[in-house]
Amino acid sequence: MDQTQKDKLLLAIKEEVIACQKCGLYKSRVLPVVGQGNHDAQVMFIGEAPGANEAKTGVPFCGSAGKILDQLLASVGIKREEVYIANILKDRPPGNREPAPDEIAACTPYLLRQIAIINPKIIATLGNYSTHFILDKFGVPESQKGISQLRGRKFAVQDPQNQNSYTIIPLFHPAVAVYDNSKLDTLKQDFKIIKEHLK
Ligand code: URA
Repeated sequence: MDQTQKDKLLLAIKEEVIACQKCGLYKSRVLPVVGQGNHDAQVMFIGEAPGANEAKTGVPFCGSAGKILDQLLASVGIKREEVYIANILKDRPPGNREPAPDEIAACTPYLLRQIAIINPKIIATLGNYSTHFILDKFGVPESQKGISQLRGRKFAVQDPQNQNSYTIIPLFHPAVAVYDNSKLDTLKQDFKIIKEHLK
């Protein structure tokens, strides 16, 4: 698919998300966090849900977890503009509670369309929620294992609907490294796996 076609389809998703009322989260929406980055990205990062800063600005990972993500990208020489960043949910669950199953069911069809359009080489899932959802969606039998067992591994999958091939690489969520340097070291190691796989 060429760039113009991708831009057009991704813009159509953005407009649908802005008007979306498929779950109750729209009631407290200021701006949805639709996703941001390069429409031809080789790496797509998928987080959990917008935090307070993200829900005000519409920009994914612009708060404290975002600073860690920027640090990790810089550690392997990848620019934020090169990648695409989205979340399982496009709106913030009130009080930072965890995403509810009905919210995940309502919201993730947008994400799956974004993945199919962008067609990245690597899907890097950040934390338990996105890892479980994405591995399960693409039929990986180990999808329900904990993130500590899955992180840093590579899962090659193919989407039966369009034959796109992806390598899923689960990672710890960057928020866990805000106060824990050992997690930051693990994340840095795992970002090297992403960098290596791009070569
Ligand atoms: N945490 C997430 O999972 N996503 C964001 O966009 C911000 C914080």
